[in-house]
Amino acid sequence: MKTVFITGGAGFIGSALIRLLIAETNWRIVNIDKLTYAGNLESLADAGSNPRHIFSHTDICDRAAMDALFAAHQPCGIIHLAAESHVDRSIHGPGDFIQTNITGTYTLLEAARAYWSGLAEPERRAFRFHHVSTDEVFGSLGATGLFTETTAYDPRSPYSSSKASSDHLVRAWQHTYGLPTLITNCSNNYGPYQFPEKLVPLMILNALAGKPLPIYGKGDNIRDWLYVDDHTRALQLVFEHGQPGDTYCIGGRNEMTNMQVVDTLCSLLDRLHPGSNGQAYATLKTFVADRPGHDRRYAIDANKIAADLGWKPQETFESGIEKTVAWYLGNTEWITHVQSGEYRNWIDRNYAKRQS
Ligand code: NAD
Ligand code: DAU
Repeated sequence: MKTVFITGGAGFIGSALIRLLIAETNWRIVNIDKLTYAGNLESLADAGSNPRHIFSHTDICDRAAMDALFAAHQPCGIIHLAAESHVDRSIHGPGDFIQTNITGTYTLLEAARAYWSGLAEPERRAFRFHHVSTDEVFGSLGATGLFTETTAYDPRSPYSSSKASSDHLVRAWQHTYGLPTLITNCSNNYGPYQFPEKLVPLMILNALAGKPLPIYGKGDNIRDWLYVDDHTRALQLVFEHGQPGDTYCIGGRNEMTNMQVVDTLCSLLDRLHPGSNGQAYATLKTFVADRPGHDRRYAIDANKIAADLGWKPQETFESGIEKTVAWYLGNTEWITHVQSGEYRNWIDRNYAKRQS
């Protein structure tokens, strides 16, 4: 049975990845997470209590703790998702982004390199350091064109520049030391268990509470949306079959303006959960000041991962967004715990005896 480290496994995408890997493989997963405001062990659902899931409440910036985890668990690879991930927060307070995304990735690379250097040849060759990154490192597109693996880096927010820095570090560790690395750059994810600071869950929960739906600028910025389980399936494929040293772009070819996304959410809510006063949810739409430096358009060309590894998304935007709205409507306990802050006590109630 192989052991794989997942960093950031209590976050939105990390928890979806652990739910997938516990269901689809026999791997032992060591979930390394600091449990920032974005970390929520309730998001692991049943996978969290599986004996093949081992939770470690650890900051990736802590080199001694990371060395101890490598020595104790002898993983065959690591999928690194831990990060500060919200652009607006990076604008208001970039410090944590520099610390976790850059220093944290550097610390992890050094701990991984020390461990990997001591492995016997077959294990050294098989080891993988998979860094999960974003399409935002490529900057902003005009009306046409797509990001590919060879697009020049042009990050423009504190978040995206910290992620770009970490991508450069990962490539440098591959080029200089031969560490077998993989990088994936994915577009905007949406789906169950996303923290309600990001566009899709924020709009759903505000609408249900009868609060304004804040649309930055004119609502005409474009994002390329991908259902989170399509992303995690791509991550598993790249981790297992990707070419060491390579980069893979991941995206669903679902370009939408923010206004189109909000209108879709409002129509779905009108159908699935009509307001008691008969008012259409779209009447809550409110234009607010634009995000400083707001990137205009993102869009991914995912041809390489399709051709090399046979990946393609299983969800269309229509099917994925309906599943997402239905999930938020059906999971009021998770939402209530997030909104009340109760989710932060979950570790004491459920994990105290199992920490490593
Ligand atoms: P998230 O904010 O939901 O989760 C991040 C997780 O990392 C949390 O559980 C948090 O507790 C943990 N964490 C933060 N700092 C840590 C530290 N110092 N040590 C250990 N754990 C720490 O993020 P997400 O949306 O799930 O994104 C996961 C990764 O995927 C990130 O690297 C992000 O850049 C990348 N990504 C996200 C998207 C997206 O649309 N959400 C798209 C492409 C790439
Ligand atoms: O492209 C991948 C990136 O997608 C990931 O790397 C990031 O971690 C992830 O947070 C996401 O970044 P965005 O900034 O695109 O996501 P966000 O949900 O914050 O915003 C999506 C769009 O919606 C963006 O154009 C800003 C706009 N927006 C967002 C919020 C929260 C609004 O108009 N109103 C809002 O209240």
